[in-house]
Parts: sequence; structure tokens; C-alpha cells
Amino acid sequence: MNQIKRIGVFTSGGDAPGMNAAVRAVVRTALFYDLEVFGIRRGYEGMINGEFIPMDRKSVANIIQRGGTILKTARSMAFMTPEGRNEAYKQIKGVEIDALVAIGGDGTFTGAKIFGEEFNFPILGLPGTIDNDLFGTDFTIGYDTSINTVTEAIDKIRDTAESHDRLFIVEVMGRDCGLIALRSGIGVGAESIMIPETKTDLNALMHRLEISRKDKSSKILIVAEGEGDSGGAFEIAEKIKDKFPQYDTRVSVLGHIQRGGTPTCMDRVLASRLGVAAVEELIKGRKGEMVGLIHGQIAFTPFDHAVKHHVEINQDLLKIVEILSL
Ligand code: F6P
Repeated sequence: MNQIKRIGVFTSGGDAPGMNAAVRAVVRTALFYDLEVFGIRRGYEGMINGEFIPMDRKSVANIIQRGGTILKTARSMAFMTPEGRNEAYKQIKGVEIDALVAIGGDGTFTGAKIFGEEFNFPILGLPGTIDNDLFGTDFTIGYDTSINTVTEAIDKIRDTAESHDRLFIVEVMGRDCGLIALRSGIGVGAESIMIPETKTDLNALMHRLEISRKDKSSKILIVAEGEGDSGGAFEIAEKIKDKFPQYDTRVSVLGHIQRGGTPTCMDRVLASRLGVAAVEELIKGRKGEMVGLIHGQIAFTPFDHAVKHHVEINQDLLKIVEILSL
């Protein structure tokens, strides 16, 4: 028997394009099944402060195409404490929310796991992060938009790099994960990518620059922000300048443009599918899991398996960069 009457939905952690499409899907699916829905503003922080908004069909109209999150988001320190979580529980019980959909990344799911177990509370998660660093889904909501933003930005950098015969080191997001660097690197024809998951061999990089084609006047090297071996984009640039003064070297840090913008169709469809599945499964009694898509099929992964350090880098993609950049 369905015990759930009112669902709460929130976005938490770093925002990602497509989060609004996910909120819309959760709200409309809940209403379709005659459940009530409350939006919770600013993630766990808003839960603790009782920031609840009743949602109807209209409150999610015309948001599928919007970047960011209409519910706003936050990283909550208070929710990491038992006192904070107790207060959050009190608040959601006070408005009779009996299940939650959490949209976010590893921090969001770590919080969801602890809270769900502490209070035996039904929660399902939707993977919303540009980093694509969650196990249990081929793609996270926001990743596709982000790599398209990076591709467009680096294409522009390539234009000016080519005109001036310059070498650019471009830093992209990914605190612990190189997947933005990896795919966008293939997409822009980067000469090299440096990511946290693999050891950066600067000697090998210098050798490649030494022997690389002289008729290719521009070079793009992509560094993920979490790449730890070589001290980051600026330090690599200094080393290249020392060794190859003939290269006119520049650094470009793409920053938060990677988190904004209109979600791609792929992200909108992914968010819609996952949002519908989350509500349908909550009704059936599922809890404590992230809803993802593996090989095109809806898949469920316990929160503690979904969080980072489990995602493997596809070695074939790394090899593709190596082969095609020659
Ligand atoms: O988690 C997504 C992410 O974009 C990371 O790639 C990046 O390191 C981080 O967020 C940046 O966070 P903030 O906006 O808090 O600086």
C-alpha cells in the first residue's frame, strides 16, 4: 500500500544545467500520481530553516530550458552535524513530507544516506553534477551541457591560438575527476590532457612537444583543476616556457561558465527520465538509492556505492587522445 502522500524535492551542492528539468519531472510526476509536492529551497540548509514551497504544475512551467536551479542550492555545514539533521527532520515532519528526492552529487548523497538511515526516511537521489563522477549512471545531469560549453569555449581559444601560433593550457573543472577534461579534450582535438586519475608525466609531455608536428601552429593542453602531480595549469606553463621559450604560452581558466547555461537536449531528457522513475519508485517503496541510467536503462545504486572514488576512467578514451593528437 502506498504510504506516501507528500514528497519534498531539493537541489544541493554545486548546481548543474538540467536540475530544473529534474525538478519539473519530479513535481509533475508526483502530481500525476495524486501526491502533493513541496520544493525545498537551498538544499539541506533550507530544510533546516524550514524553507518549503508548495509546488503545482504551473510552478515548474517554462523551466525545462533554464540553467541553474529555481530551488537554489547550497553546501550545508549544519547538516553534517546530528543537531542540524535533527532540526531538518523536525522541519520536514512539521509539514508532513513523507519522502524526499535529492538532486545533487556526492556530498548530497552522503548526507542523504546518513539522514535516511538515522530517521528511517525514504529518499531517492538524482545525479546532478557537471563532473560525471558518480558510479551507477553513465552520465550525470549537467555533464553533457558542461562538456559542450567547454568545447565551444576551447574552439574559440583555438581560433586565437592558431592566429598567433600559441600554446594554450586550458584549465577545466573537475576537483577530483577528469571526465570533463577527457571528453572535451577529444572533442576539441587537444594535444594533451592531464587529469587527477592518471599520473602526469611532464617529461613525456615535454618530449611530445619536442617531436610534435612543426606544421601545427597552435597547441591546446587541457588540465583538470584537480590534477595534482604537476602543480596545476600555471606551473605547467612556467615549465613549458623554461624548456621551450619558442612557444608563446598562455593559460586560460574556464571557471564557472562550465556550470551555467541552457541544458542540452540530452540533459533535459536524462533529467526527465530519472525524475519520473524516482517518483514512481518512491511510491513502490524504494529508498536509499540513486536513480541512474546505464546503457540506456534505468538503474538503481545504493548511495554509498554511487559516491566518488568508484568511477573508472575509460582507458580507450585516453588512448584516443594519444593517437589522434599526433
Ligand atoms: O562539483 C562541481 C564543481 O563544479 C567542481 O568541478 C568544482 O571543483 C566545484 O564544483 C567548484 O565549486 P564552487 O562553485 O563551490 O567553487
